[in-house]
Amino acid sequence: MTELLFLTDSYKKEISTRVTNAEQKGSAWELTLAETVFYPQGGGQPSDRGTIKGAKGTASVKHVRMDGAEVVHECTVEGTLVPGDRVTCSLDWPLRYRHMRLHSAGHVLHEAVISLYPDLVPLKGEHGDKPAITYRGSIPIGSIHDIMMKANALVAADLPITSELVSLDELQKRVAVLPPRLPKNKPLRIITIGDRPPTPDGGTQVAKTGEVGEITVSGITNTGDTVTVAYTINTREETEAAEEFIPVSQYIGMLLEAQANAKRVIEESTDPREILRIAVLGPKSELGKLTKRIRSIKPADRQQAGTVVNDVKASVERAIEERSLSVASRPEHPEAFDPTVPGLRPPEGHLHIVTQAIAEITEIFARIGFTRVRHPEVDWDWYAFESLNMPKNHPARDEWETFFVEHQKSKSKNQKFGQIVLTPHTSNGQVREMEKGKLPIRMINIATCYRRQSDISHTPMFHQFEGMYIDTNVSIGHLKGVFDYFVKQFFGPDRTIRLRPFHFQFTEPSFEVDINCGICLGSGKLADGAPCRLCKSGWLEMAGGGMIHPTVLKNGGIDPSRYSGFAFGWGVERAYMMKGGTKLDDIRLIYSNDIRFLEQF
Ligand code: PHE
Repeated sequence: MTELLFLTDSYKKEISTRVTNAEQKGSAWELTLAETVFYPQGGGQPSDRGTIKGAKGTASVKHVRMDGAEVVHECTVEGTLVPGDRVTCSLDWPLRYRHMRLHSAGHVLHEAVISLYPDLVPLKGEHGDKPAITYRGSIPIGSIHDIMMKANALVAADLPITSELVSLDELQKRVAVLPPRLPKNKPLRIITIGDRPPTPDGGTQVAKTGEVGEITVSGITNTGDTVTVAYTINTREETEAAEEFIPVSQYIGMLLEAQANAKRVIEESTDPREILRIAVLGPKSELGKLTKRIRSIKPADRQQAGTVVNDVKASVERAIEERSLSVASRPEHPEAFDPTVPGLRPPEGHLHIVTQAIAEITEIFARIGFTRVRHPEVDWDWYAFESLNMPKNHPARDEWETFFVEHQKSKSKNQKFGQIVLTPHTSNGQVREMEKGKLPIRMINIATCYRRQSDISHTPMFHQFEGMYIDTNVSIGHLKGVFDYFVKQFFGPDRTIRLRPFHFQFTEPSFEVDINCGICLGSGKLADGAPCRLCKSGWLEMAGGGMIHPTVLKNGGIDPSRYSGFAFGWGVERAYMMKGGTKLDDIRLIYSNDIRFLEQF
């Protein structure tokens, strides 16, 4: 068992003792001694370094650790050191002394923190490379200053730090909070700062808080239910520099000279206010640097110097204000205020592209007597499917990947209405419009539609516009004419359509409508003979339509032997994207609300 001399005397730098064991580990050696001054890493304090000198060899100590009750010194050895050798141990004292100061600083800081926030529970301390204390609990933002003031007041009071070795019994009696783990291989020890309650501690400590020097709290981080208070202390050089005090009268003289210089700069400058302020008051300015040197004043005189610093800064601020006023009133100066300059226009938004398209489509159809109507977007199965000649089990229904709405079936309601759906197309407006009982019908029904699809060419919510014309003697010619009109109005005079036979349950005959491609105008080839990027074949698929099936007319209460009509349904998003000749890589972009995309339209 190694005797731990640092526990009772942190200032012992050198001892003479005996090697008790020496083991070679690769190219390194592990030495144990009868007693030691070397602090083994632990309790947040890094291990010591130094030398162990014998008659025939010298070890340079790189790292020290506790191994059971032994202190193991990890060394490189020149010459030989064997058990029984008498050796002289010397610490790397500047390093150890810094560790001691950092460690004591941690305890002083802890006293400051606890006196302000007594509910915090200390969890761990780190007094090496990144000194910090972690607590359970939290510290309000903005308390750095208070904590630092309290801690440095304890430093300034130069309180004694005393240590005592104690039994477990005594430890439990004397300390308020026991650490979660007590060392089993070290004697127990408590330290006391001034007359504050003792705390358990096994590290090395300076004798008086004044030796710690100024403590800076470099950050307070609240994370989850813990808070970490990071701190630093001055290096030896900084401490020594701080000890060379400047007499306060000399400091005030320097301040006044800096003030005069600053005012001269302000007087001659035509810079904008902020630049001027940085030049004369910023951290790199003469005054800024002097402000920092206030640390070189004896603490007792600092308040007096501080008052002068504040006065000087205020008067320089005033000079900047006055200067910018007189600069601004000179009209030839670029900073001058010109009341005739028009105001800045705040950025303007625009309607969503789909809203724009709906407005335009409505307007185009209005010109040929089609009235925009609205029908439910959550509707009965009857209107969405059944009345359109699509019985429940008809396979064609699979094309409309429908969302169903859960609802309590009401017995009173006519059984024929069936389930409730989010309308998968605008065709639910057909029978609903017929039921209004007014003929002829020229409607344009624009609404949101929903289908269980989401991929690069589908969004689960989209829009359709559904046209319907019912009158006596309506023919396919009318259908074709209306399509052609719309396409030329919406896409441009070069555009035309073609009808392709298709199948819908609710129209007979049925067609799919293609529009010639806006880039190759139907040829499928570009001027240089290369295939068109947009369409490949010259035609783009647009919409469905056809002559209304007699069953549908009947379901709407219209006599198919007297009346005929056509209906068609197109996708708004699809029509809009084709208009610009834009091939969207992903149609879902339209509803992603990415301003960078939407702004382009
Ligand atoms: N409702 C059909 C669809 O969604 C389009 C259509 C409307 C077809 C009207 C014919 C008549 O695809």
